[in-house]
Amino acid sequence: MSYRICLLPGDGIGPEVIDCAEQVLCALPLDWEILRAEIGFGAYERLETPLPDSTLDAIRSASATLFGAVTTPPNLSGYFSPVVRMRQSLALFANVRPIRSIPHPTSRPNIDLVIVRENTEGLYSGIERVEDYGNRAITERVITRKGSERILRKAFQVAKQTDRKTIHVVHKANVLRETCGLFRSVAMEIANDYPELKMQEMLVDTCAMELVRAPEQFEIIVTTNLFGDILSDEACMFVGGLGVAASGNIGENAAVFEPVHGSAPTLAGTGKANPIATFLAMVMMLEFLGEESLAASLRSAVQGCIAAGQVTPDLSGSLTTAQVTQQVIQRLN
Ligand code: NAI
Ligand code: MG
Repeated sequence: MSYRICLLPGDGIGPEVIDCAEQVLCALPLDWEILRAEIGFGAYERLETPLPDSTLDAIRSASATLFGAVTTPPNLSGYFSPVVRMRQSLALFANVRPIRSIPHPTSRPNIDLVIVRENTEGLYSGIERVEDYGNRAITERVITRKGSERILRKAFQVAKQTDRKTIHVVHKANVLRETCGLFRSVAMEIANDYPELKMQEMLVDTCAMELVRAPEQFEIIVTTNLFGDILSDEACMFVGGLGVAASGNIGENAAVFEPVHGSAPTLAGTGKANPIATFLAMVMMLEFLGEESLAASLRSAVQGCIAAGQVTPDLSGSLTTAQVTQQVIQRLN
C-alpha cells in the first residue's frame, strides 16, 4: 500500500519530534509519499498567517496528517489559534485520546481508557462578547443535535471496534439543563442502537474525582469539548504525562494525529524533548490507516524502550531525542 502523509512540524520542539517521526516512518515497510506544510507562529512571521490555505489543502489531500506543536503568542492582536481553526475548518469533530498504562514506575497499572471529546463546539464555540463597558464578559456554549450525534456515534463505534463494553457519557445536565440536557438526551437515543454496550451517565465533577480514585474502572468516556479537554489532561498524568500522551483529531474527510504537548520552547534545541508522544500519535495514525500490525510493532518497540529505561529525562532517563529514536528504529528491525 502507498499512503500520502502530510507532516506539520510547527514551532519549538514540533520540528524536532516530527523529524524523528519521519525517520521512524521511513523505517516501516510501506510506501510513503511525504509532504510538509506550514503551521504556527513561524508560519505567521513568514507568511502573515499561522494557517495558510495551502496547509488545509495539503491535509485534505493526504491519507492522514501528523502534526508536531505550535507556539501561540498571547496578546498578539489579530492572531488566532491555528489548532482550533484547523479543527473547525476541516470539521475534525472527534478528539480521541487513549490513556493507557506504560511500563514505567510512575505509571498507574491496569489503565486502558479512551476519552472521546467533542472538538468543534461547546464552550469553544468562539462566540464571545463584552458588555457593560467591559464589566461583563460572555461566551456562548453551543451544543447542537448534529454535533452531539456524530461524537456520540463515534464513541460507540470506538467502543465496538475495540471490544469495550461500558461507555461513560459525562455531562452536567443537572445544572446546564439545556446544553448538557440536549447532549444527554441524544446519548440516550444513540445508546438504543447499541444494545450490546452498557451506557452509564456520570456528572463531570464526579468523573474528575472517580478518575483520580480509580481510573481503571473506565473503558470509554465521551463528553463535550471543555470537559473533555480537562479530563483528558488530568488522565494523562496517571500514565506517564505529556511526554507520552497522543491524540487524534478525526473528521469525515481528514484526520490529524498529534502529541498532546505544546511547543515546549525551553526544551527546543536541547535534545531533551521526548519523541514518544509523537510515535504513539503515529501508532494511532497507522491504526486509522488500517495498518494494525505495523501499529502493534511500533507500539511494542516504544514500550520496549520505556521498559528498558531508554528514555529522555522527563521519564528519568538520560537519552536524547535522537537516541530514543534510534532505539525505537533498532527495535523495529
Ligand atoms: P507545553 O506542553 O509546551 O509544556 C508543558 C511542560 O511539559 C513543560 O515543562 C515542557 O517542558 C514539558 N514538555 C512538553 N512536551 C514535552 C516533551 N515532548 N518532552 C518532555 N517534556 C515536555 O505547554 P506550555 O508550556 O503550556 O505551552 C508552550 C507553548 O505551546 C505555548 O505557546 C502554547 O500555546 C503552546 N501549546 C500548543 C499546543 C499544540 O500545538 N497542540 C498544545 C499546548 C500548548
Ligand atoms: Mg489541552
